[in-house]
Amino acid sequence: MPQTMALIGGTGRLGPGLALRLSRGGLPVIIGSRDLQHALDAAERVTALDGVTRIRGATNADAAASADLAILTVPYEAQTGLLPDLAGPLAGKVVVSTTVPVRFDPALGPVAVKVDEGSAAEQVAALLPTSRIVGGFHTVSSVHLSRLDRDLDEDVLLCGDDDGAKADVRRIAGVIPGLRVVDAGRLGNAHHLEQLTVLLLSINRLSRRSVGVRLTGL
Ligand SMILES: NC(=O)c1ccc[n+]([C@@H]2O[C@H](COP(=O)([O-])OP(=O)(O)OC[C@H]3O[C@@H](n4cnc5c(N)ncnc54)[C@H](OP(=O)(O)O)[C@@H]3O)[C@@H](O)[C@H]2O)c1
Repeated sequence: MPQTMALIGGTGRLGPGLALRLSRGGLPVIIGSRDLQHALDAAERVTALDGVTRIRGATNADAAASADLAILTVPYEAQTGLLPDLAGPLAGKVVVSTTVPVRFDPALGPVAVKVDEGSAAEQVAALLPTSRIVGGFHTVSSVHLSRLDRDLDEDVLLCGDDDGAKADVRRIAGVIPGLRVVDAGRLGNAHHLEQLTVLLLSINRLSRRSVGVRLTGL
């Protein structure tokens, strides 16, 4: 089991929700940011939500250097600017791509953004060539993660080419009650997970709910 998690860009919506749930599951968590004070403030806010004590704040670079496993929780547009500087601190480490390349059109709603590498996760693999990339958590809503009064009840679909890395992510997701991990195959399948999430965002918009995924027949 990896010892310390870094949430790169963990100050937004998904990062705090994951930090909260992972920390409640007993894992030490660092919330990273481009701005140290922003990270410290976010860590304090998340800690106050539940009285948890394992969350701390750091710059993204320090969080990446201190962690055994990193989860990227930045928008797709941030990847090419942010990740090259983190390639050193994240070398050899498991890195989870949660990124959904999507734009929000005022008339059409959520629209998938084309990625030259095939998917945002494969772009991460190109930008962090010595890290062990796993795609996952795309379909898990920050709303569900942040609402401690409701249990989660959904699947996390993981894809990647490194079975050991996927096993590590399976173990950390396993500390969050109500999440079932499903192996979704190779990293080349990340495109499908990312696009599935664009569909879920459209359903959210129409239903005014936050939906997740639960597969049947497994
Ligand atoms: N929200 C969800 O429910 C959800 C669910 C599944 C997957 N995801 C995926 O998770 C990722 C994060 O989603 P989110 O909703 O949490 O995003 P967000 O709130 O818009 O942004 C998260 C953080 O990214 C950092 N950031 C923003 N622009 C940046 C840039 N140009 N360079 C470097 N860092 C930048 C910011 O942190 P600092 O300013 O502190 O550096 C920000 O707080 C996205 O790729 C999204 O597709 C989201």
